[in-house]
Amino acid sequence: MSQTKSMPTDSSIQVTPSPLQVPEHVAIIMDGNGRWANQRGLPRAAGHRAGAESVRRAVEACKRYHIKYLTLYAFSSENWKRPESEIKALMNLLQRFLKEKTKEMVKQNVRLRTIGRIDMLPADTRKQLDKALKQTENNTELTVTLALSYGSREEIVDATKAIAKDVAGGKLDPDTIDNATFKNYLYAPDQPDPDLLIRTSGELRLSNFLLWQLSYAEIFVLDKFWPDFNEEDMHAAVQEYSKRHRRFGAI
Ligand code: FPP
Repeated sequence: MSQTKSMPTDSSIQVTPSPLQVPEHVAIIMDGNGRWANQRGLPRAAGHRAGAESVRRAVEACKRYHIKYLTLYAFSSENWKRPESEIKALMNLLQRFLKEKTKEMVKQNVRLRTIGRIDMLPADTRKQLDKALKQTENNTELTVTLALSYGSREEIVDATKAIAKDVAGGKLDPDTIDNATFKNYLYAPDQPDPDLLIRTSGELRLSNFLLWQLSYAEIFVLDKFWPDFNEEDMHAAVQEYSKRHRRFGAI
């Protein structure tokens, strides 16, 4: 759902007088770290490191707009097919990021959550994640959900298995299953669906991200690589979202 908000007070962005329709939940496909690095003759890991800085900027921008939920596609089910060295670099980066930023998240009243098959992550990464989840669990201003080892088809399969088990166990009557029941079996059932999906790198794909939840999201594609994402880009996305007329299939 959208919230009507006045513009953030930041001197670097232009202020227009009309109130903005601010999305409550923004989801981001952070694409292009590798190409950003390639263009500079750098290893792909350098692109991911620069991408982590964009994560910090995106979180700050969401806080400025009082956006309540930010969901980031940080590691997909398909990313396990990448070379071991790149997977290792990504996991190390995530661990370092959590180690360095958890204190700041607590200070900023940011809650961290995860979605995905977290049990597939290396033990060290899970340990660092658990710490960050625990330390931020009572925070209320912005929920940042990291999609890790995440695939939407896998999420739907996991939900279906859980539903089948509950039906077999007599806990659920199949005739009562509706959209709301199904949503309850997804990884983060208590979160509203994203209102706005941002994707960087100009690609027009969903890439197995939140297929159920994005059914009615507005899509904003940026023609730049994720490490170049900045506050003005979030501003442009929210501005564009604000202009869209969401009808949810009605007239
Ligand atoms: C896509 O770029 C990005 C990823 C697969 C990983 C996203 C990770 C980060 C932004 C950094 C770490 C995240 C956190 C939360 C600390 P790509 O490698 O697919 O780029 P390419 O399509 O240009 O190869």
